[in-house]
Amino acid sequence: MAKRQKHATMEVSPSASEIKPAKGKLGIMIPGMGAVATTFVAGVEAVRKGFAKPIGSLTQMGTIRLGKRTDARSPKIKEFVPLAGLDDLVFTGWDIFEDDMYSAASKAGVLEKELLDKVKPFLSKIKPRKAVFDRNYVKLIDGPNVKKGKNKMDLAEQVRDDIREFRKSSGASRLVTMWCGSTESYIEPTAAHQSVKAFEKALTKNDANIAPSMIYAYASLKEGVPFANGAPNLTVDLPAMRELSRENNAPISGKDFKTGQTLIKTILAPGFKARMIGLNGWFSTNILGNRDGEVLEDPGSFKTKEESKLSVLEHILQPGLYPELYGNFTHKVRINYYPPRGDNKEGWDNIDIFGWLGYPMQIKVDFLCRDSILAAPIVLDLVLFMDLAARSTELKGIGIQEWLSFYFKSPMTLPGLYPEHDLFIQLMKLKNTLRHLRGEELITHLGLEYYD
Ligand SMILES: NC(=O)c1ccc[n+]([C@@H]2O[C@H](COP(=O)([O-])OP(=O)(O)OC[C@H]3O[C@@H](n4cnc5c(N)ncnc54)[C@H](O)[C@@H]3O)[C@@H](O)[C@H]2O)c1
Repeated sequence: MAKRQKHATMEVSPSASEIKPAKGKLGIMIPGMGAVATTFVAGVEAVRKGFAKPIGSLTQMGTIRLGKRTDARSPKIKEFVPLAGLDDLVFTGWDIFEDDMYSAASKAGVLEKELLDKVKPFLSKIKPRKAVFDRNYVKLIDGPNVKKGKNKMDLAEQVRDDIREFRKSSGASRLVTMWCGSTESYIEPTAAHQSVKAFEKALTKNDANIAPSMIYAYASLKEGVPFANGAPNLTVDLPAMRELSRENNAPISGKDFKTGQTLIKTILAPGFKARMIGLNGWFSTNILGNRDGEVLEDPGSFKTKEESKLSVLEHILQPGLYPELYGNFTHKVRINYYPPRGDNKEGWDNIDIFGWLGYPMQIKVDFLCRDSILAAPIVLDLVLFMDLAARSTELKGIGIQEWLSFYFKSPMTLPGLYPEHDLFIQLMKLKNTLRHLRGEELITHLGLEYYD
């Protein structure tokens, strides 16, 4: 038998690629200054001031193992790769309502008044810029703080002006746009989305298939600014945006933050599959009472969300490979707007599984979660990692940052590549990407060399 290779557990990564240092301020621009955005910004300020800890953030709390288990090298991620420091973050945003971040956070009702008051001077200075808004895309809310323009190209130019103005007035050396706006109505890609040329023509012609989120995305990418999408809207998941992203070295990622029920689903389902436990059905229902819940009462917005939530199990369980286990399961997802709960969502799951000889069993999950508390650390990690990608010679020109799938319910991939939904594979992909960027060996967990 051939002699076992010394480093059988490790694939050697090419030498480190170049990453520019995180010098200067990082400007974070947020379309949609609602519950998630304000919980994120208030949280960053609270952490900076030492009032609270950044729980749930991989960039702030996570470590990364390097080399062999016996090497005892596990630096913090933020010490291993050059990320912007929290003190260097500056913020702006757009919203259809005129509330500054303090009033918006107070209305969202996620954080208690005592904590909000401690960061009030900072939050109340962040006032929303006028939004690009179209009620055909978000039917159940309307507000006064909206841009007017002769066509959609004109609106895109106005957003580009906002971006340039913020770059100048904040003194930021780099920018990232993070969509935290409402979920837009479901649409399928059309001819207008197939190339930058077609998209620009459609902007000028006021094509109905161009949603507001796409206008922010277009403006950002044209300005060379990375764009991440926290909602399930198509937004940057389009050929035109991939083209623009690559042309302008402005990374893109999405879609739909993986929090709450879907997070739990992508933790449990890989476990069932790992043990070859079958699934007859998974019924998920939610009650929530925040503005997101209100917007999702509209069937168009709900359909966008439902598509994003439903795809998860199919991809994790691979019914094509395991027809006896997963060939015939029923998967239903319901969201009910129930104002008394505010942002504190309750997600119930009834899971009908089967084991040895086909004997049925049930699992019930009742997750009393806080949506924006789960989403805020994801926003932080995403903006820091998107900025890292934009500084990396290897990542900035590739378009979709698939290594950030870890954060999304509906990870974007190139056409023809199926998305990876298993949270643990996603984490391995993310950490191996960081190891690769720094020229460290990739970890495969084989571990045979310890027994040589
Ligand atoms: N909280 C979570 O766990 C979670 C998880 C996954 C996805 N999301 C998505 O994140 C987004 C934000 O969630 P939220 O709870 O903060 O919702 P929210 O309703 O509190 O905030 C959304 C804000 O976007 C604004 N808005 C809508 N259209 C806009 C536009 N065109 N331009 C600028 N502003 C616009 C609204 O006025 C509102 O203030 C939603 O799309 C939601 O579905 C949230």
